[in-house]
Amino acid sequence: MKVDLTSIRHGFTQSGLNRADLSSNPFEQFKLWFEQAQEAGVIEPSAMSLATSDDSEISIRTVLLKYFDSHGFVFFTNYNSQKSKQLQTNPNVALLFPWLVLERQVKISGHVEKLSTLESLKYFSSRPKASQLGAWASQQSSNLSSRQMLLSQFESMKAKFSKGEIPLPDFWGGYCVIPLKIEFWQGRENRLHDRFIYHLSEDKWKIERLAP
Ligand SMILES: Cc1cc2nc3c(=O)[nH]c(=O)nc-3n(C[C@H](O)[C@H](O)[C@H](O)COP(=O)(O)O)c2cc1C
Repeated sequence: MKVDLTSIRHGFTQSGLNRADLSSNPFEQFKLWFEQAQEAGVIEPSAMSLATSDDSEISIRTVLLKYFDSHGFVFFTNYNSQKSKQLQTNPNVALLFPWLVLERQVKISGHVEKLSTLESLKYFSSRPKASQLGAWASQQSSNLSSRQMLLSQFESMKAKFSKGEIPLPDFWGGYCVIPLKIEFWQGRENRLHDRFIYHLSEDKWKIERLAP
């Protein structure tokens, strides 16, 4: 079977990106674009593709950015999941935000650091109770015999933690992606897109234009 998609063509015409308009700080630039993605109605602007790898496999999935500052970009997950196993072998990662409504993408590469238990607890405590129980109930990335099994694990966690605060699972928490490179991509007409990459050089962010 062959499904031919070559006639799908989108012309990128919304706007351009000029060197003079960029903040000298990539986190400030990211903040501006993030706010513009929110304003433009991007569904889940905090959804980002996270690529990880080990010696035998490269793997990618969506996770949610929960906060960021000038140190890095934080997401939360199960520490026994496939991604976490790969991160233990190889902490190098890539992130991608496809904000296509704005004809934009942001590409980030760097390495992860595990958050402290205290910091993970702070976020875990802020989650709705059902999400906290969901974290307890799912052995993320392991085989599951049926959906019923998952629901019954959820119910048994609900019974177990029926009184008081739900504790932070020791297999659940956050990672911070510390970036080395952050690229901002703006689609332009005739595939002559604007790309600017920030990279760290002697502790300072340098900005270069890249060919599209
Ligand atoms: C919109 C969206 C948001 C998601 N957010 C998260 C998240 O923040 N953390 C997480 O562990 N999984 C999240 N997932 C599920 C992951 O994509 C993935 O299925 C899960 O983490 C297991 O990945 P792994 O087996 O590669 O480790 C999200 C999925 C989608 C589609």
